[in-house]
Amino acid sequence: MATGTEPQPKSGTAPGGGVRDGTRAAIAAAHLRTDRWWLAPAATAAGLLAFVVYSTWRAFANADYYQAPYVSPFYSPCLADNCEPMRSGPNWEIFGSWWGLSPALLVLIFPLGFRLTCYYYRKAYYRGFWASPPACAVAEPHKKYTGETRFPLVLQNIHRYFFYAAVPVAGILTYDTVLAFRDEHYEWGHMGLGTLVFLVNIVLIWAYTLSCHSCRHIVGGKLKHFSRHPVRYRMWQWVGKLNARHMLLAWASLVSVALCDLYVYLLASSAFDDPRLF
Ligand code: FES
Repeated sequence: MATGTEPQPKSGTAPGGGVRDGTRAAIAAAHLRTDRWWLAPAATAAGLLAFVVYSTWRAFANADYYQAPYVSPFYSPCLADNCEPMRSGPNWEIFGSWWGLSPALLVLIFPLGFRLTCYYYRKAYYRGFWASPPACAVAEPHKKYTGETRFPLVLQNIHRYFFYAAVPVAGILTYDTVLAFRDEHYEWGHMGLGTLVFLVNIVLIWAYTLSCHSCRHIVGGKLKHFSRHPVRYRMWQWVGKLNARHMLLAWASLVSVALCDLYVYLLASSAFDDPRLF
């Protein structure tokens, strides 16, 4: 509601034009923080960059992604003819033989899009890579601020659809984890160190997926009376507890999925043998 006392733009400044706008307090210093505020965005940028470099190398490698009974989560499901044969595994060759590139490129778009549009990761890479803003109470260097109202950032709004895609992907990774209870001869009822790696990874993947803000809204949003929807209310409470740890789960699942792939890579490239527990 207009009160008539709102600050007016100074002449020559564009309304709505960033933190140097004339409507803001005239403080010359870029910020007044004396702590090492740059540490968090720098660490975030370094961590995300490391994952991007590693996952790009592995996605284009098109090799060493399967060692019975384990398949790398980067290559699951494997949807082209050029997939390695995996007995009862997720090699469903629906793309046929015309696809000549790495089969990982067919599926990574879904988990990648899910993370790229995630509310937490958005904050992380806006701060880490774009300095927009670099930290709380630190002015961003950009002259204009349009938020996510214009192309291309307006596309971030498709996050909930990536959530719908991420759920079946997590289901397929669960299937891969069940298959990890076989030995290298496909006999059931066995476990190796890799089975534990897969178990930890799938728990973290599900925890991250279900802690999604879109999931929380889908489960408990648009309700006027929780008392009339006790099941959804209970589920909303569970998701809310996970949601409070979304940042932690985002990092933990990112590291675990990379380690899971690395484990399969080391087995498939004969760097070592999977220690069998039974
Ligand atoms: S908000 Fe992070 S996955 Fe949906």
